Amino acid sequence: MEVIILKDAQALAQQGAVYFQNQLRAKPASVLGLATGSTPVGLYRELIGLFKADLIDFSQATSFNLDEYAGLSPEHPASYHSFMREELFAHINLPSDRRHLPDGLAADVPAHCAAYEAAIQHAGGIDLQLLGIGSDGHIGFNEPSSSLRSRTRMKTLTPRTLADNARFFGSPSQVPRHVITMGVGTIMEARHCLVLALGTAKAAAVSAMVEGPVTANCPASVLQMHPQCTLLIDEAAAAELERRDYYRWVYENKPAWQRIA
Ligand code: PGA
Repeated sequence: MEVIILKDAQALAQQGAVYFQNQLRAKPASVLGLATGSTPVGLYRELIGLFKADLIDFSQATSFNLDEYAGLSPEHPASYHSFMREELFAHINLPSDRRHLPDGLAADVPAHCAAYEAAIQHAGGIDLQLLGIGSDGHIGFNEPSSSLRSRTRMKTLTPRTLADNARFFGSPSQVPRHVITMGVGTIMEARHCLVLALGTAKAAAVSAMVEGPVTANCPASVLQMHPQCTLLIDEAAAAELERRDYYRWVYENKPAWQRIA
C-alpha cells in the first residue's frame, strides 16, 4: 500500500484528481468506481474544474458507485443517486446510460445485486476505484464482520455509521438501516484502489487499516492485500500511524518515474 500524507483537503483533492486524469488519458473508456460521503466532494470539484478547462474527458467512461440506501428512490434528496447527480454527474460529460448505482428500490434484492456484479464484469471490471473509509473501518458499506470475499448484497448499518451519516438526514433515526453495497471481494477486484481520508475522526480507522492486522473487524485492512492501493490522507488522519515519518520519507525519496504529481 502506498501511504501519501498531504498537507490538507485541497492537496488531497488535487492529487486525487490527477489519478483520474491519468487513468482517463491512458484509457479513455475506463471503468471508474465512485464513492459518496463528504470526503470525495473536493476531488469531484477538482474533476469538474478539469472538465471545464477541457483537461479531462469522461465521454467514453463508465461508472459504478459503491452503494445506495435501501428504500430510497433515486429522487430522494439524501439518496446517493441525488448526491452523485449534484456533486458530479450534472457537471461532466459522463453519459447517463453508463452511470450505475445500486437501486435502493429493487424489488428482488439478490437478483439486483447479481445483475450489478454482472454489469461490472461485462464492462470489463473496475480500473480505478475511489474509496472513503468509515470511522469504524468500513469500505463501501461493508461494516465490521463483513466477509472479506463478499459480493454486492444488502447490509445492515452499525449504530455508529447511522450516527456518522445522520448529518445528511437530520437524525440517526431517519437514516435507513439497510443499504446495498459492493462487497469487499468486489472492491478487491478493482485494478487500482484510491482511498481518501481526512481529519482526526478517521485517524484510528486509518491506523487499523494500514498498520493493524488484516481482519474483518476493520474491512479496510484487507486493502493491505491489494496489489495496487494508494491511500491519500491529511496530517490529522495520519496522526495515529506509527510509521508516518517513514511514509513521508518514502514519498519524498521516490524515484522520479514513480511520481504521479
Ligand atoms: P465520509 O464517509 O466521507 O462522509 O466520512 C466515508 C465512508 O463512510 O466511507
